[in-house]
Amino acid sequence: MKYRKPEKKRKPPQQHVLKTLDRIFSKAGICSRTEAREWIVRGRVKVNGKTQRDPEHWVDVDQDAIVLDGRPLRAEKKIHILLYKPKGYLTTYKDPEGRPTVYDLLQKLDQWVFPVGRLDQDTSGLLILTNDTDFAEHITNPDYHVAKTYLVKTSTLLSDEQLEMLRQGLELKDGPTRPAKVRRMRDSESRSFIEITITEGRNRQVRRMVEALDSKVLKLVRVAIGPIRIERLQIGKWRHMTQDEVRVLRRSGRKGAGPVESAAKRAPAAEGGDSGAVSE
Ligand code: URA
Repeated sequence: MKYRKPEKKRKPPQQHVLKTLDRIFSKAGICSRTEAREWIVRGRVKVNGKTQRDPEHWVDVDQDAIVLDGRPLRAEKKIHILLYKPKGYLTTYKDPEGRPTVYDLLQKLDQWVFPVGRLDQDTSGLLILTNDTDFAEHITNPDYHVAKTYLVKTSTLLSDEQLEMLRQGLELKDGPTRPAKVRRMRDSESRSFIEITITEGRNRQVRRMVEALDSKVLKLVRVAIGPIRIERLQIGKWRHMTQDEVRVLRRSGRKGAGPVESAAKRAPAAEGGDSGAVSE
């Protein structure tokens, strides 16, 4: 038999993680991508000893030495904040008109965070802020079906048929809404108080769903994101999420523990207390 040289085991090709320079900063949780672009253009960033002013410059996370203002770049510790946003505050960093923003409520925080999704100026309730982009993506990307639960006061009495329409999904101008969980909490003479859980986060979605029923939202409070509820958090205050909460929320959604079900089951009474109640 002819001798055959044993085949050489091929080394797997080395995986180089390439990202644009601006993205490295936002991924590291240091600042927003917009801020990173400004810093880079202003010449505050060096790559391998040379000033790099192009935010789109490709860098290898593991190989290239990136320095900001003379200090090597290190990933910031990931933080996850739960804020009870009051009505009247904008979910934005700075408002050109000088209106209050959610950042005004975070003054004691010394790390950069960004809001995970947004609440309208007139909506109150639970808002997560973080520097953890993957975590934020899990909550905001509708593909993960992470539930968001709202208490709603409507301008008219809603019939059972109208609630059923919310449940089944309605046609909005950007397409049909997914099936929602809807519970009637109570009615007054001319208003309904409902709890609705949706798994998308389209712009003004709940308001538009109610408007599609020829009614209006008079008050809107987000009381839960996945299985995380406002509970004892006071309006205008924030707290760090526990590691458990972060873990549970990462797992919630389509492949997770079924937050739509659990949020609805554990819903408290719609009025009173500081747990996101909608009152008259
Ligand atoms: N749906 C709305 O209409 N507004 C919000 O702020 C959140 C959900």
